[in-house]
Amino acid sequence: MKIKAVVFDAYGTLFDVYSIQVLAEELYPGNGADIAVKWRDKQIEYTRLMTQSDPHNPSGSQYFRPFWELTRLSLEYTLDRLKLGRESGQVEKLMQQYAHLTPFKENLAVLQKIKGMGLTTAILSNGSVDMLASAVKSAGMEEVLDHVISVDPIRLFKTSPESYGLVQKTIPVSKREVLFVSSNSWDALGATWFGFTTHWVNRQGLPFEALSPKPDFSGPDLDSVLASLV
Ligand code: LAC
Repeated sequence: MKIKAVVFDAYGTLFDVYSIQVLAEELYPGNGADIAVKWRDKQIEYTRLMTQSDPHNPSGSQYFRPFWELTRLSLEYTLDRLKLGRESGQVEKLMQQYAHLTPFKENLAVLQKIKGMGLTTAILSNGSVDMLASAVKSAGMEEVLDHVISVDPIRLFKTSPESYGLVQKTIPVSKREVLFVSSNSWDALGATWFGFTTHWVNRQGLPFEALSPKPDFSGPDLDSVLASLV
């Protein structure tokens, strides 16, 4: 099956969520790495909690909170859990950094090459519409992405089938004609279960999830996606 659209996860795949570790370390010396990991884990846990608790509501989960908001809540929780103060504007500083996350260095060139191959490019993300727009703009990726799709309108996060289904509502292709790219193994698995062709970007050299099947392709960085397209 020939791939017609390449769809990327945003946070962790195009934008480096652990880059906030540097600022977290400046604000809370000795705790930067711990904050970055615990913040991310809590953020993803909240998405699952909300979606799982009311998955069949026709208007989306009643517990849904936009990703921007739950990102802030999970940061506040993390700082409280680590018994770190948050009275001096640290939450605001970290959230501002989150709005302008550093992209991985090879990403822009890879997106340009994929566009040059005549393929449709898109993001499918749990991120809220505004936060995605600001991240895409700061990364200089506006020209190389045809669509930026947020789960906001359906109020259900990944890995719900409804969330992956948004891709085909936007781009008229079959599931296997989509190459879905994520560096989050849980997302690569969810997308594989959904029926997309999948590529796992394994930046940290981790084992894949113990659940099967494995994604169709994997590689250490975004450059490796180009090899999945030949
Ligand atoms: C995203 C997060 C979950 O959907 O990585 O962009």
